[in-house]
Amino acid sequence: MSTKTELTSIGLMSGTSLDGIDVALLRTDGVTVEHLGPTFFEPYTPPQTMRLRTLLEMAQQEGRNLMGSPVVSAVEQDFTRAHARAVQALLEQEALKPSAIDVVGFHGQTILHRPAERWTWQIGDGGLLARELGITVVNDFRSADVAAGGQGAPLVPLYHQALLRTLDPPDDDWPIAILNIGGVANVTYIGRDGTVAACDTGPGNALINDWLQRNTGALLDAGGKVAASGKVHEDRVRRAMQREYFLRSYPKSLDRNDFFLDMLDGLSLEDGAATVTALTVASVAASRDILPATPGRWLVCGGGRKNPVIMEGLQRTLQVPVDPVESVGWRGDFLEAEAFAFLAVRSMKGMPLSTPTTTGVPEPMTGGKLFALG
Ligand SMILES: Nc1ncnc2c1ncn2[C@@H]1O[C@H](COP(=O)(O)OP(=O)(O)O)[C@@H](O)[C@H]1O
Ligand SMILES: [Mg+2]
Repeated sequence: MSTKTELTSIGLMSGTSLDGIDVALLRTDGVTVEHLGPTFFEPYTPPQTMRLRTLLEMAQQEGRNLMGSPVVSAVEQDFTRAHARAVQALLEQEALKPSAIDVVGFHGQTILHRPAERWTWQIGDGGLLARELGITVVNDFRSADVAAGGQGAPLVPLYHQALLRTLDPPDDDWPIAILNIGGVANVTYIGRDGTVAACDTGPGNALINDWLQRNTGALLDAGGKVAASGKVHEDRVRRAMQREYFLRSYPKSLDRNDFFLDMLDGLSLEDGAATVTALTVASVAASRDILPATPGRWLVCGGGRKNPVIMEGLQRTLQVPVDPVESVGWRGDFLEAEAFAFLAVRSMKGMPLSTPTTTGVPEPMTGGKLFALG
């Protein structure tokens, strides 16, 4: 337990898109966000992305047996050192010393996520990171939640709730949905009465990236240009949307590999991109229908907000204002990293990271593993 009320924390996020490491500094007492500090992004080099991608593929084949293998520890060491360098880069950029930072929240990379088996696996060596940086580290944010029967995801909702308290949204906006379009997309619903509900909605950018990668070698569909030049095969979107997952009530979460590109078999590059992008939009629309009430406004963060085909599709389908979170002064590329900075502080204070309506955990649950110095 920490005695200081307000702590300075750095959050680190490496999402399922495998694009790089997001770094964000903030000050918080674990309830209120006192100050949003500087941010930094360290993109992965193509070989780094490929190594993570290969590990994810191996994990699909081998499941938990892969844990403890030398391949994993080699990738994990490199991955952890890359995170250390990213933190150091932020500190240098801001002329800060490690002693100015109370804690680093280290999400790690999700390799497998199997809440039904009460198990989830993120790589990232907390002890090594703490030693490299000379700063206390919290990692392994999801295990306690899944062990208790929760989904282990999404964990960002309590941060979204804290951030929203800093705004005074007009009447028409409520309830508010905060949509994060990362590799997988997730939504947080916040009612005016304080109701919070959350779930993973479906694929975000990961399938789009995979399709582009497979067919062109590109890492993403920049500006949605490829999707915009193709035709959506609605029948395929409809078929993909028949999955039981989309009808199930919240809370619920997905593994990056719960969706496959086989829905696009035989399509051209452009039509495939258009169709898989339409699936992202359709799955967000399906999530709206299971939320406690229809949101009056959607605030969008994550890389998907930079894809105009997704944003226009959402606007057309949801028929209420859909805006990037920048419209309310937040930083759409760093909300998740900020969330893990926030959650690291909550973890140090023994406060809940998840609740029955965010992950389905039976009771509000704390979590995270602490690597204190010396
Ligand atoms: N300009 C852009 N045009 C289209 N897609 C983009 C753009 N910028 C980012 N993206 C998408 O967003 C992804 C990164 O999103 P991010 O929120 O970092 O996801 P994650 O949390 O899974 O890492 C990229 O891999 C890409 O698919
Ligand atoms: Mg990312």
